[in-house]
Amino acid sequence: MSVRNLLLAAMTLGLVHSAQASEVFEQAKITAGEMLYRVECRRCHAPDTNDPSYGPPLENVIGRGAGTFPDYEYSEALASSGIVWTPAALRAWMEDNTGFLPGTKMRHVGITDRTVQDFILTYLASLSTQASDGTNVD
Ligand code: HEC
Repeated sequence: MSVRNLLLAAMTLGLVHSAQASEVFEQAKITAGEMLYRVECRRCHAPDTNDPSYGPPLENVIGRGAGTFPDYEYSEALASSGIVWTPAALRAWMEDNTGFLPGTKMRHVGITDRTVQDFILTYLASLSTQASDGTNVD
């Protein structure tokens, strides 16, 4: 094998390795997010719309209009807020929901650590039943 081919092979292996590493990293973030979600959110929010949930279930919450989960009795404040749950809005909500939207009936949570927010956001994104092309994968 020529030096050039050897170098090419090494580069290819390197790429495969880094692709695997980022997949492992993504999975680790989801797992960490799930653990944090269990501690911070799960007692009020089912991650699956088929399960009983005190607050609105958070499956497919990213990109959803606030206050739109069918048959859930939202506060007036949330129902009429016009918020869309982008990652940035969810960050602000986790950081200080009662400051972000006075009148919400969700008890105050104050998650200010961006890494913790990141993990929870990655987990919430993993609860999507929509493929990136918009088709339903559930
Ligand atoms: C003590 C119970 C409780 C905890 C803990 C809690 N929530 Fe909530 N959450 C609620 C309630 C109740 C509502 C409905 C608020 C309203 O109608 O004003 C809500 C609403 C929401 C909404 C709006 C959903 C929609 O359909 O518009 C999001 C997003 C949300 N919570 C995320 C979270 C996240 C993320 C956590 C954890 C970091 C969390 N909540 C922790 C009770 C809780």
